[in-house]
Amino acid sequence: MKIETFEMERMQSTWENIVDYDLSESGVRPLTLRELTGMGFDLESFLDVPLGYSQSNGTVELREMLAQMYPGATADNIEVTNGTSEANYLVALSQIGPDDGFALEVPNYMQLWGVPRSLGARVRTFRLRPEQNWEPDWEEFERAVEPGTRMVYVSNPNNPTGSVLSDEAMKRIVERCEQTGAYLIADEVYAGAEVSRPLTKSFWGMSDLVIVTSGLSKAWGIPGVRIGWIAGLKELIAECWAQHDSITICPGKLSDRVARIAVAPENRAKCFARTREVLNTNLRIAREWVAELDGFLQWREPDAGAIALMKYGADTGSIELAERIRTRQSTLVVPGKMLGIEGFLRIWLGAREDYLREGLRRIAEELRPAAVSAG
Ligand SMILES: Cc1ncc(COP(=O)(O)O)c(C=O)c1O
Repeated sequence: MKIETFEMERMQSTWENIVDYDLSESGVRPLTLRELTGMGFDLESFLDVPLGYSQSNGTVELREMLAQMYPGATADNIEVTNGTSEANYLVALSQIGPDDGFALEVPNYMQLWGVPRSLGARVRTFRLRPEQNWEPDWEEFERAVEPGTRMVYVSNPNNPTGSVLSDEAMKRIVERCEQTGAYLIADEVYAGAEVSRPLTKSFWGMSDLVIVTSGLSKAWGIPGVRIGWIAGLKELIAECWAQHDSITICPGKLSDRVARIAVAPENRAKCFARTREVLNTNLRIAREWVAELDGFLQWREPDAGAIALMKYGADTGSIELAERIRTRQSTLVVPGKMLGIEGFLRIWLGAREDYLREGLRRIAEELRPAAVSAG
């Protein structure tokens, strides 16, 4: 099975550890083990953990804790994975075959562009419209999700727009899935990273066709343990588990233990509060920065997630502009084109304040000349 390059991930892994300022990320600056000690992490007891294999679908204890986040679910409705990306991958791998229809929104994270294509699926996209608060273009949606479509993918809150779907939009998406018999993968990895609104409503429970994927990488600020999960019908979870056995066998044993600390309700609340604080501080910095650029950048501030999708007022392609920022300023941002939308840059808002300020200053050094030549 051949797979095309996942452009954004490859661009990040090539440059993120080389540049001076990496503003291509999308989570908040990560927690340390020391910060977790304040939440019950005990280093001394960790030293005695035998470094064997862990339960391959996640320990019963962790799956039971995760199941509590999804009303009516039990441990059998949960598969613990190596990150949300493995969760998405296992769902696609277990359900998609040649000529199946697969629909996804753009802009998007784009993992589930290349994966279904590698499995031989017919991939269709529907656009999210900035003038409609980044909700789907419903005509395109209905064309993309036609009878016989096997699966639909949305991320809510969305990467890269940072927008959250309204209840009506969620209902409309689920109704169309029910009409056409398509599974809905709802990637909810940014839920819990809301700037000032309540926790994003989950698609969980709206239909048996809903499969939720999520993980610790964004709202919790713990990407390094690589813990994600799938919540779905038991039969579907069993099929994902079968794929898991042949790919990575199990999540890391230490990671499963760290996850059990992080998802405990009181600690979840602490992690989400920390994320919210970072977002609110950094959004103020980003707002001031955008204002100083005199209308060259337009954006709708994120409802959730440490990501700012900014439309710039020049004809330069986003890959060229991002490349200029990288080579001249040693600062990394994501060109919109890699996320399925041209004329935009995605800028990370989760860094330390001084790091963010200097990264933004450097980006502006390249945007000002582009603004002048556009004007
Ligand atoms: C929407 C979305 N899903 C999944 C992932 C991958 O997450 P993880 O680090 O948990 O594998 C990302 C990472 O940026 C993402 O934005």
